Amino acid sequence: PLPVVALISGGGSNLQALIDAQLAGLPIRLAAVISNRADAFGLERARRHGIATAVLDHRDYPDRDAYDADLQRLIDGYDPGLVVLAGFMRILTPAFVAHYRGRLLNIHPSLLPKFRGLHTHQRALEAGETEHGASVHFVTAELDGGPVILQARVPVLPGDDAATLAARVLEQEHVIYPTVAGWFAEGRLRLGEDGRPWLDGTPVDGFQP
Ligand code: GAR
Repeated sequence: PLPVVALISGGGSNLQALIDAQLAGLPIRLAAVISNRADAFGLERARRHGIATAVLDHRDYPDRDAYDADLQRLIDGYDPGLVVLAGFMRILTPAFVAHYRGRLLNIHPSLLPKFRGLHTHQRALEAGETEHGASVHFVTAELDGGPVILQARVPVLPGDDAATLAARVLEQEHVIYPTVAGWFAEGRLRLGEDGRPWLDGTPVDGFQP
């Protein structure tokens, strides 16, 4: 199985989906879970499954470069073939992103390129969207701007608020993140020299049929 390091900041429900997928036979091995927050519940999920954990508190660092340099050292100690951002709420430096080019994935709660950044569910509601969703993409230096590999769509329903919409999206996140991690682990997915994701030898545009 492919060694994977997951970076989290919070509840870790996407991490849990990856743990569950590993237990169900997906060819990944979560080697470590690293959080920038000591109180992230995802750390507890990792401990319950005997996965190594580490906390790297950004408040202990003078700047982003120093933090990301230490983070990179910590990650590379586990020698992962893939690094997944699973609700890691930090902007990463270009040097960090370049180091992991083609082996760093993120999941974002919107139908990218719509609603990069924060508060995506509230913004989708305010924009009057009838459809919303989540995207898995390779990470590049552009925030939430890397090439999309797979998206899941959900309807926006009458009476939705940010919480009900977030819950509907999250359920789909838990499907698409393990799917993409599995493709990568099986050697079916790579980031091409052309900057596009390639799946089974064909460039993908990220949109679900
Ligand atoms: C997820 O919805 C994820 O897409 C989002 O944070 C949530 C984490 O939930 N990520 C971002 O907004 C990245 N900027 P989880 O901790 O339960 O997986």
